[in-house]
Amino acid sequence: MGKFVDKVRGAPVALTFRDLILLPGLSEVEPGEIDVRTRVSTSHELNIPLVSSPMDTVTEAEMAIALARQGGLGVLHRNCTIEEEVEMARRVKRAESFIIRDVITIRPDQTVGEAIEIMQHHDISGLPVVDEGGRLVGIVTARDVRFTDPRLRVSDVMTAEVITVGEGITLEEAKRILQKHRIEKLPVVDEKGGLKGLITVKDIMLRGRFPNAVRDEEGRLLCAAAVSPFDLKRAVKLDKWVDVLVIDVAHFHNRNCMEATKKLLKHVGADVVVGNIGTYKAAEDAITQLDGIAGFRVGIGSGSICITMELLKAGSPTLFATAQVADAVSDYGADLPIIADGGIRSPGDVALALALGASCAMMGNVFAGCREAPGELVTIGGRYFKRYRGMASPSARERRHAIDRYHSKGIAEGVEGLVPYRGDVASVVAEFVAGLRAAMGYAGARNITELREKARIAMLTEAGAREAAPHSIYLPSQEPFRSP
Ligand code: XMP
Repeated sequence: MGKFVDKVRGAPVALTFRDLILLPGLSEVEPGEIDVRTRVSTSHELNIPLVSSPMDTVTEAEMAIALARQGGLGVLHRNCTIEEEVEMARRVKRAESFIIRDVITIRPDQTVGEAIEIMQHHDISGLPVVDEGGRLVGIVTARDVRFTDPRLRVSDVMTAEVITVGEGITLEEAKRILQKHRIEKLPVVDEKGGLKGLITVKDIMLRGRFPNAVRDEEGRLLCAAAVSPFDLKRAVKLDKWVDVLVIDVAHFHNRNCMEATKKLLKHVGADVVVGNIGTYKAAEDAITQLDGIAGFRVGIGSGSICITMELLKAGSPTLFATAQVADAVSDYGADLPIIADGGIRSPGDVALALALGASCAMMGNVFAGCREAPGELVTIGGRYFKRYRGMASPSARERRHAIDRYHSKGIAEGVEGLVPYRGDVASVVAEFVAGLRAAMGYAGARNITELREKARIAMLTEAGAREAAPHSIYLPSQEPFRSP
């Protein structure tokens, strides 16, 4: 046979989520006991293996906050100015912490009107008052300024006798002091009275409300952000705020992207996850040529809003890509977590991706339907939807900030539309985690490492895939969103 025929005959089968199932195995644990903790990058652990896509209809600060509180991670999109993306990251980091470091303050000579405006703008209930040298001179709360002449100076209404603490304070001590003095805010100062941080009752209570949240060493929620490999300025600015930077291009296995990333890696301290890649060779080249990467984002063309595979006949379906990259990681003994990205629709899809070597699943479509995704609810025929668009769709490309995600000039590689409204992130996560635990229970795995080792996989025929979905029954509630 000729070489072209051989090329066809020897072609690997690029399997997708619809082609495979997990075979049931002996289970020695009940689903409630199954541990779904994982890693998203070399140095960051998550309590659930779910990550939201960096897309402008999926992840802004509200989504990132909600998901981190549930134990997952949001990746902020980059289809905006550097300042806007940094502001999103700051909002996530300010959402809660034991000691707030990025404290919003006011000077004593500013007016009460300004104090009210700052509190309203940042949705906070009090401001430490600091002099020009950064020394704490008082505190002003919403209660102090209510019904007060807005032209007065802050120094006229603030409390000058402030109870403060030093840097070494523990959570328990802080709770005791707040309770004893019946105060809401406790400034942290150095020996010279310089303001170093702020402890609030609200933040301490949030810790109790979200016990599964993932936090950094200062008690702030974990946060990730997407960057272009060619936008070093953005990466450096975000690096001050986020734990993980995600290189966000459609085809990372590209000489220019890899060279630019090599340079970027020298300038940032956050973990850098690179992608998207889809083959063993891409992972091999990244492992051997890029020192200091912290993980892979994997899958090209499987996204629900994606038309790359259909239009350009190029891509690597997420499940196939995950297995390829996982083999390369294992062959090279590299300690690099894999995020499976695109086409993930159900807890079973997540379980399959984990069984084939992923550490996390990234979802755009599923999270786009949540209350915390950007955009308003849309009602059609009494049913609720939210808008969802590919980052290479015509309208997303118009915003231009993320246009270099795709090499193709002038070709839209994505579509836009509506997804059914799913409620809030907490309930979607609860449903996915319960489903994932059930799937792992069927496979007989008590944690994700065991799932990788133990899971046996079977391939469905096309007829089998049809049988796996509800059939021979009319399901009015699912129309018109039945997957084919
Ligand atoms: P799901 O299936 O969760 O996939 O909607 C989300 C992932 O799809 C990728 N993405 C795109 N791929 N054209 C593409 O080819 C696009 O316009 C596009 N926008 C997003 C991305 O990897 C995302 O996480």
